[in-house]
Amino acid sequence: MQWLKLEVDRLRDKGLYRRLRVFRTGQVPHAIVDGKEVLLLSSNNYLGLSEHPLVKKGAVGAVEAYGTGSGGSRLTTGTSELYASLEDALADFKRTERSLVFSTGYMANLACLTSLVGQGDVIFSDELNHASIVDGCKLSRAETRVYRHRDTEHLRDLLRNLRGNGRRLIVTDGVFSMDGDLAPLPEIVELGEEFDARVMVDDAHATGIFGERRSGTPEHFGVHDKIDVHVGTLSKAIGSIGGYVAGSSLLIEYLVNTARSFIFTTALPPPAIGAALAAISVIRVEDPAVKLWKNVGDYTALLKEGGLDVSSESQIIPIMIGGTDNTCLFSDRLFEQGVYASAIRPPSVPANMGRIRTALMATHTSEDVHTAAGVILEVAGERGLL
Ligand SMILES: Cc1ncc(COP(=O)(O)O)c(C=O)c1O
Repeated sequence: MQWLKLEVDRLRDKGLYRRLRVFRTGQVPHAIVDGKEVLLLSSNNYLGLSEHPLVKKGAVGAVEAYGTGSGGSRLTTGTSELYASLEDALADFKRTERSLVFSTGYMANLACLTSLVGQGDVIFSDELNHASIVDGCKLSRAETRVYRHRDTEHLRDLLRNLRGNGRRLIVTDGVFSMDGDLAPLPEIVELGEEFDARVMVDDAHATGIFGERRSGTPEHFGVHDKIDVHVGTLSKAIGSIGGYVAGSSLLIEYLVNTARSFIFTTALPPPAIGAALAAISVIRVEDPAVKLWKNVGDYTALLKEGGLDVSSESQIIPIMIGGTDNTCLFSDRLFEQGVYASAIRPPSVPANMGRIRTALMATHTSEDVHTAAGVILEVAGERGLL
């Protein structure tokens, strides 16, 4: 296994070596990471719900009622009645006929892509879609045509030049995970109608945050009922773990019977479902996204006033750096100064597009937001980015 060492050394030489950072706290604004207290500016716990008392209570209550494990796959022994409640709540939240919960968002994407299209079919995929979509496209054995990021003219060309009568599926993230920008859903939906292609949206970073009822980007753009397949995760703003697909009853029935990432894995443990159920209720009653959006507005204004060129349409605000070494040095310096924001490098982003992915939480105080912006500007100044 000498080759393993060579490969690891190669990653280290290229600045692409990764190591795990250990948290002694939960995903809270003031976290202890690798033994040091830092301001957390990288978490996907956008609404702070993994620490919300009612969400914790939902998890604990589920353990007390149903135990810690699910005992089997969904189709054998793993579907507790809690699942039915969660799937009803999600369908209601997403305003679809039904929903289906998976063990992760990754598996929900694999399920849709491998079940809905196959050999002889064509997928149209944004070039910056999440890795789980990329992997789903590969596994599906459908032909995948990648269109330039958010470029609907390019998408139109690809659709127009298509021959054959296989199925067509356009797939896009709702909010792009590393750039924080939004897919142009109204135009994509129109193209889907014009060229008879189904539309699938992965709203992993938008559920609970975008739209009047916070159901996500399709609601935000007013095209909710034009999306054929809604995918999302329970592990980011929802504060738990799991993924879901929402859509027609027929879609869900089909996935239950065909999706390998649904059939051949153990169901989620009861606390994960109890937490997700409680989180959906908290989103409806307390709407923590209001505070998140206030933080986003304040933070971006402070960075811009300080001379940093940031642009984002969401709670994910990347600080673009470029090369891998510089990106890591920037992140290390932030950590020294008491802010934890991870360095994002290839393969998560293209070469020379390294960045610090900052993400705000509803639980950041105004003081936290000012501190975060101040430290980022200080380090950006030191590294000649202003
Ligand atoms: C856009 C997007 N889709 C899907 C996933 C996968 O979701 P999960 O973490 O629940 O597997 C992620 C993040 O991990 C993501 O950013």
